[in-house]
Amino acid sequence: MTEKVRAPFAGLVPPLGPSPQHVAIIMDGNGRWANSQGLPRTAGHEAGEISLMDTIAGAIEAGVRYLSVYAFSTENWRRSPAEVRFLMGYSRKVLRARRDELDSWGVRVRWSGRRPKLWTSVIRELEVAEEQTKHNHTLDLIMCLNYGGRAEIADAATKIVSRVVKGELKPGQISEKTFASHLYLPDVPEVDLLIRTSGESRFSNFLLWQCAYAEMSFVDLPWPQFRREHLWDEIAAYAGRERRFGGAVDKVRQ
Ligand code: IPE
Ligand code: IPE
Ligand code: MG
Repeated sequence: MTEKVRAPFAGLVPPLGPSPQHVAIIMDGNGRWANSQGLPRTAGHEAGEISLMDTIAGAIEAGVRYLSVYAFSTENWRRSPAEVRFLMGYSRKVLRARRDELDSWGVRVRWSGRRPKLWTSVIRELEVAEEQTKHNHTLDLIMCLNYGGRAEIADAATKIVSRVVKGELKPGQISEKTFASHLYLPDVPEVDLLIRTSGESRFSNFLLWQCAYAEMSFVDLPWPQFRREHLWDEIAAYAGRERRFGGAVDKVRQ
């Protein structure tokens, strides 16, 4: 039985200040959480489903427009064959089981990642969800599956080189803007707030280009314990930060 999650409801969320347009989450700590409960790592991945659904609902309530979630990295193939198999099968199952619920919340599901190696049945499930939800515009949920920041940058470089070879682009025309337009989802704005659970403070190859000026929050909870209220705490803290983008203003103390 698929566990129900409280649907997003406008008006429930406390005022948090200006919301980040794009939030990215490294959903980490599933395995350690499960092991600490005397359970196998896979039980942690299962428990993470509710965290994901609750966080999506909370993001909608807070007015977030894009939510990128790191579900499987290009490096996660290094895990045991059994864990990789579980993660592939479980991603497929969650996409299928939650598709209608997400659709009813106005969520547009999108995939970001590399095709080679990713299970065909998972790609198919992502495509079904993308097709079903393509007209929704409350929140874009970007499922990063077989995603790597370096892979994305290398893939963009490959696309640019092939356009140069065809004579469609001149090498002198390649600006940051041109480069960004060759990323997997060029219409998605840069990340405003990057959250990583589990207490680790690293990027682990997530959205390297898009996080150039992201505010970062490292949360001490394992992903299975993360809920929408924790997201709101991070959004409220974000609202209090000063983003300077390299600029500076004199504020001499009186
Ligand atoms: C994150 O939790 C989920 C994936 C990487 C798929 P982990 O599986 O990395 O759990 P820890 O970090 O080992 O506890
Ligand atoms: C990052 O977590 C990938 C996902 C959450 C999908 P990892 O657990 O794979 O990262 P490392 O190995 O601790 O850096
Ligand atoms: Mg981890």
